[in-house]
Amino acid sequence: MNLDSVELYHEAADFIKTKVSKQNLPKIAIICGSGLGGLADTIEGERVVLKYTEIPGFVTSTVQGHAGQFVFGKLSGKDVVCMQGRFHSYEGHHQKQVVFPVRVLRLLGVDTLIVTNAAGGLNKNFNVGDVMLINDHLSLPGLVGVNPLVGKNIDEFGARFPAVNDVYSLELRKIAARAWLKNPFLVDERKLVLREGTYAWIVGPCYETDVECRMLHNLECDVVGMSTVPESIIAKQCGMRVLAFSLVTDIVKFGYPARALDIVQAELKGQTIETPKVAETTHEEVLAAAAARALDLQILVKDIVRDI
Ligand code: 6GU
Repeated sequence: MNLDSVELYHEAADFIKTKVSKQNLPKIAIICGSGLGGLADTIEGERVVLKYTEIPGFVTSTVQGHAGQFVFGKLSGKDVVCMQGRFHSYEGHHQKQVVFPVRVLRLLGVDTLIVTNAAGGLNKNFNVGDVMLINDHLSLPGLVGVNPLVGKNIDEFGARFPAVNDVYSLELRKIAARAWLKNPFLVDERKLVLREGTYAWIVGPCYETDVECRMLHNLECDVVGMSTVPESIIAKQCGMRVLAFSLVTDIVKFGYPARALDIVQAELKGQTIETPKVAETTHEEVLAAAAARALDLQILVKDIVRDI
């Protein structure tokens, strides 16, 4: 499989065009994050479900909570496609494989990409269940060479050296902010809090160490997660508008490791130092928090699709 050649992308797009009628090809695509795939189940109209495994060029997504298919149909009366399940670097996929679907969507005519993810809160004002509009990202992996654009550039998809300081469309963020403010169910009844800030991308699959949490916080990042950045970079390069959200699934545990030397020295003096319990982030807690807000995020996304 040659992911540096545009042929494979066209092959996938042409295959999809044999399954979805021309007048229903969407301009809007939505990538559903961990535990947020339920949105795809609410798609109406003539639904077309395509498993990634059926489509040329796709690899299989392996994570719990991800179905691994495109769902085409209508949301708020508009043609959309949902990616129910996405590819992550931590699954062992090559970066080009992670972003493959985004380029295929572009060939199908998609010009607006909405991305959702579950993320850990680094901003000390944030709470579990808050939703954050991403207005910037820190790609530490990108700075050291983990970037989907490394390698031969496919000129058909955009510039060799694309600017990425404005990946997350202000216009779309304004639409999202208005949609949230205009929805009393979300704001008053569900107490959905909308934030805005910077997403730190880590490859994972490990959650962060103590010093990594402190570092990302010191680097002015508001949330941390394991997705979204590769797809958003690729979408920007090929001329799509991007709107991305993080659902805060846990608040990062700021702390320092217990110090063995202090404990042992205290022991020698006949004292005991309380050893703090290490608080760990778990995938279960992430999925549970995502499930608790999944419906609210679905409503918000539907309102945004309506207003785009
Ligand atoms: Cl990468 N870290 C933490 N702490 N929580 C998360 C996450 C990462 N991704 C989803 N929730």
